[in-house]
Amino acid sequence: MCGIVGYLGLNEKKEILLDGLQELEYRGYDSAGIAVIEGNTLHNFKAIGKLKNLREKTKNYATKGFGVSIGHTRWATHGKPTELNAHPHLGQYSYVVHNGIIENYQSLKEELQSKGVTFLSQTDTETIVHLFEANHTHNKNVFSAFEETIERLEGAYATLLITEADSDTIYFAKHGSPMLVGFHGDDVYFASSDTPIIGKATAVYYLDDGDYGYASKGKLHLFDANGAKAFTKQALTTDKISAQKDGYRFFMEKEIYEQSNVMTDTMMGRVLDDTIRLDELEKDFFKDITAIKICACGTSYHSALTSAYLFERIAKVRCDIEIASEFRYKEPLLTKDTLFITISQSGETADTLEALKMAKRAGLKSLSICNVDNSSIVRESDASILTRAGIEKGVASTKAFATQTMVLWILSLYIGQEKKTLSKETLETEINAMIHTPKALIVSDTLHEKLHRLSKRYLHGHGFFFIGRDIFFPLALEGALKLKEISYMHAEGYPAGEMKHGPIALADSELFTIALMPKTMHYDKIKSNVEELSARDATICAISPLPFDLADDFIQTHYDSHPMLEFFEMMVVTQLLALEISVRLGNDVDMPRNLAKSVTVE
Ligand code: F6R
Repeated sequence: MCGIVGYLGLNEKKEILLDGLQELEYRGYDSAGIAVIEGNTLHNFKAIGKLKNLREKTKNYATKGFGVSIGHTRWATHGKPTELNAHPHLGQYSYVVHNGIIENYQSLKEELQSKGVTFLSQTDTETIVHLFEANHTHNKNVFSAFEETIERLEGAYATLLITEADSDTIYFAKHGSPMLVGFHGDDVYFASSDTPIIGKATAVYYLDDGDYGYASKGKLHLFDANGAKAFTKQALTTDKISAQKDGYRFFMEKEIYEQSNVMTDTMMGRVLDDTIRLDELEKDFFKDITAIKICACGTSYHSALTSAYLFERIAKVRCDIEIASEFRYKEPLLTKDTLFITISQSGETADTLEALKMAKRAGLKSLSICNVDNSSIVRESDASILTRAGIEKGVASTKAFATQTMVLWILSLYIGQEKKTLSKETLETEINAMIHTPKALIVSDTLHEKLHRLSKRYLHGHGFFFIGRDIFFPLALEGALKLKEISYMHAEGYPAGEMKHGPIALADSELFTIALMPKTMHYDKIKSNVEELSARDATICAISPLPFDLADDFIQTHYDSHPMLEFFEMMVVTQLLALEISVRLGNDVDMPRNLAKSVTVE
């Protein structure tokens, strides 16, 4: 949820930390801070709000010569977003940054307080630094004191510690939250993902859970439960993914426009003229598999819901979908003939990762669909299919959803092909539709302009219902999620046929209904559902290739030959509608309040 960077070396440290944090800011932006030790001098700066506040605060500060440094951008879990709660947290002579949650922090805190330690913040993180210093008072060996500290921590963490007691060393530990170490000559970098160190480090080592140790004099000393541990560095890509917005106002906007091109990458080498190929999966991967269970959160959960229709209809395989945070605690009955699929843009979502670990403990075969290679979920899975969406910076997910849905569609055909439950004709029809998807995702000026104009009518009211049937029901859920995330207005996705069972009571002219009315899927049924709402005076915004007289607003789509093409075209409409409403309301489209890009806490 938060972002960590660390650097040990001769270069100017403030800029390295701030640039690195900039890359991670999308993970959390309640507050940020840095701490540097040069010689025996310790400097620390913190600021609440976005990173630019920290930049402003440190503008007259620059480091000189060798030193160690750590930085953090925070998304509050324990304690409000205040400067005191911002990382790095200070003991008497040491600083710590941390991602994740220390579950036993309360008992550790009470233990330390009973020994006279004063806490300044409300965070769980502060316990780490005080515990370390308490251990250090009786164990003068700094590394042993650090080891003793992490032995006592329960929960998920990635942490860095610097201390005046050993002022040329960075101590680190990883358990359940991501962290990697970058190298270039004698420079050593730490980060919670690789973007902050691309262009700086040339080699990288992705820490495993249970890894800990220290970096000193350009060297990494690595340990795990078995003692000293050997490791191999990998080359780090030098292809710095541009953080530029390419002329778009927002990353989200850029990412919506990118979907058409990105989709071609997702299909490349997988969707061939008359067959589907997935080199990622061993032959016989689906042997003995008779059912699929998918776990995911948020937007990824919506792509999972969409795929359940496809797996059952196309591949003829039973498919259940679960929200990962629910699955974890329901004591599910898991059988080994079930393939366990996780879907995640970031590959670091704590609930999804834990659900995957549970399924693995139960002996299930696992497959992840993910956008980030080498992420925790990818590394934990038996196999993975990357969505190839490229880095997604807007907190509200767009191209990740589109590419996940495409991968799942491809997978449903692949399973049907492997299990021979799919006719040649159906395969041909589906492939033909897939090939047209990039076109259905192109944003025309006319459409964008129309949504810009329409958006001014939807800035008030007491809520939105997005309604659809079949695969358009998960799309309705996703459309509503996009709108609420960035407009802060109440929006719900609902199965169109379910409105009459309760929600229709809310209908009046201030209730906005966004009706997804595809031609190729239950058009007459949804038309009746929308008529019922219109009769109760609800304001109707219909999205359809077919004209609809009762609509107050009508957005005409163009693809009407295949449900998935209609799905993707309507998806773009709902994304742009949310974007334009949010812009008119003056909201921060890319970093909506209270949210973070990667949710690595439970
Ligand atoms: C919404 C959004 C979130 C994520 C959810 C899961 O726009 O982005 O709902 O989809 O937090 O994240 P991942 O896919 O990274 O596991």
